[in-house]
Amino acid sequence: MAELQWQGKTSAPSTESFAHEAQARLHTHEVYPASMSVEMTTHLAWQNRLIRGERAEVLAALLPEFAGRVNLVYIDPPFMTGRDFKSGAQLAYSDKWQGNLDAYLQWLATTLRLLYQLLAEDGSLYVHLDWRVTHYARVILDEIFGSPLRGNGAGFQNEIIWHYQSGGRATNRYARKHDTILFYTKSAHYCFHGERIGERRGHHQRNHMRKHLDEHGSVSWSINSHGRTYTYSEESRMTPADVWSDISHLHQRDPERSGYATQKPAALLERILLASSEPDQLVLDCFCGSGVTPAMAEQLGRRWLASDQGDLAIATTRERLLALPQHGPFVVQECAIPPLE
Ligand SMILES: C[S@@+](CC[C@H](N)C(=O)[O-])C[C@H]1O[C@@H](n2cnc3c(N)ncnc32)[C@H](O)[C@@H]1O
Repeated sequence: MAELQWQGKTSAPSTESFAHEAQARLHTHEVYPASMSVEMTTHLAWQNRLIRGERAEVLAALLPEFAGRVNLVYIDPPFMTGRDFKSGAQLAYSDKWQGNLDAYLQWLATTLRLLYQLLAEDGSLYVHLDWRVTHYARVILDEIFGSPLRGNGAGFQNEIIWHYQSGGRATNRYARKHDTILFYTKSAHYCFHGERIGERRGHHQRNHMRKHLDEHGSVSWSINSHGRTYTYSEESRMTPADVWSDISHLHQRDPERSGYATQKPAALLERILLASSEPDQLVLDCFCGSGVTPAMAEQLGRRWLASDQGDLAIATTRERLLALPQHGPFVVQECAIPPLE
């Protein structure tokens, strides 16, 4: 099988090869609602967790408890933009790699391998990137999940194009107006509900389907294909295509904006969570930024684990969760490697 090489590439690590990161420990230092004590949370069957920490340390620290148990992962990692992202005067995070693509690819591959270990056998992974590194990420993901050409139904499912209109337009090439979200599954058996997120088929003619009207005035559509007739009611929902142009980028004055640079719209996460998870399933995002994933998970009744290494990201996410009309108990944890004795 073809694979991507870069300088310093390490082979697939087992849990043991994360000896350094595996020393990381999670410490609870805040509990919400504030009326609860840390002691009380230990009696809860489940507690959602917001964790401040570096992604490999957090993921390695979660492995003993959560390997093979996470149903859905969404990540929106740094894209190798070569920029610092600020929120006002405060640095949100730095995405500068000194042009060292090898270092970035090793960093990304390590992240994806750890996430693979955390994913449940029927779990799904969504990786949000753009033109800079998507093509490398696909090859790395095929290496980890197995080539889609094996045809066993696992691994690559979609390359979703999120097309938006914001920003200026280049004059020396076509305007770059999309991000790419790679959708992979650990096996051929995974949760997917196109009908929850699709558009209603309705009265409107879209392709070569035949329209039928029954005696009550209800519309249905039929089409013949390979000797079979397929009939759909106007109420049925069509699975959305892999180009999403109906979700707008957040504009400067969008009420949803938290002020955190690179914040993604909640509607993107709503679509992903509804399609690829069931209520009460476990969702993870280790680059949570403004908290779009845990906030949407909370609203849709999913359990969640969210982390980020930035103080601003943790503060923004905490505030966002507390501002929701309703939220369940959650803890804020710190992930750190204890100093040598
Ligand atoms: C593109 S932003 C995520 C934005 C988020 N999806 C949102 O909608 O608000 C990337 C995030 O990754 C975090 N990050 C970057 N490097 C990290 C690392 N090594 N470990 C943990 N978090 C990291 C940054 O602090 C930043 O919040």
